[in-house]
Amino acid sequence: MVLSEAERALVRALWNKMGDNVGVYTTEALERTFASFPSTKTYFANFNLKPGSTQIKDHGKKVAVALTQAVNHLDDLPGALSVLSELHAYKLRVDPVNFQLLSHSLLVTLARHYPGDFSPTMHVSLDKFLSHVNSALVSKYR
Ligand code: HEM
Repeated sequence: MVLSEAERALVRALWNKMGDNVGVYTTEALERTFASFPSTKTYFANFNLKPGSTQIKDHGKKVAVALTQAVNHLDDLPGALSVLSELHAYKLRVDPVNFQLLSHSLLVTLARHYPGDFSPTMHVSLDKFLSHVNSALVSKYR
């Protein structure tokens, strides 16, 4: 399930369009994840998880930086996300199923904010990109 050059171009184009707002959308995606899949909240026991919380915003920015790094390293996602994979696997012990929940919420968020860009091919491209990110993040679990 490799991303074709055309699919990569679509992911990069949307990322460029989002510009400095990537963190806004990852924050919204986190809030949607916590609201729609409450079990995900258990990993953030020390966070204020109310919508609009500064902690969620700050965390959303960190997730945005990681995803932007992934967009910039589409040829080596396991390498680019290696440290994060170790963190989520060994320290945080996040069950891999949760990565799909956040990806789903991010897709919904982007579809809502970019309805004109969210064509079937854009959907497939982002879906594939996030699947690769998730595979890279769980690569240290074995
Ligand atoms: C696209 C998928 C994800 C990305 C890119 C991502 C990225 C990150 C980043 C960049 C950090 C901060 C690392 C640091 O401070 O050094 C982090 C921390 C964390 N992540 Fe993830 N993450 C993802 C998915 C998830 C999921 C699905 C969960 C659980 C439901 C989760 C739980 C956590 C927790 C609990 C922390 C530590 C928060 C804290 O105490 O500050 N992550 N993640």
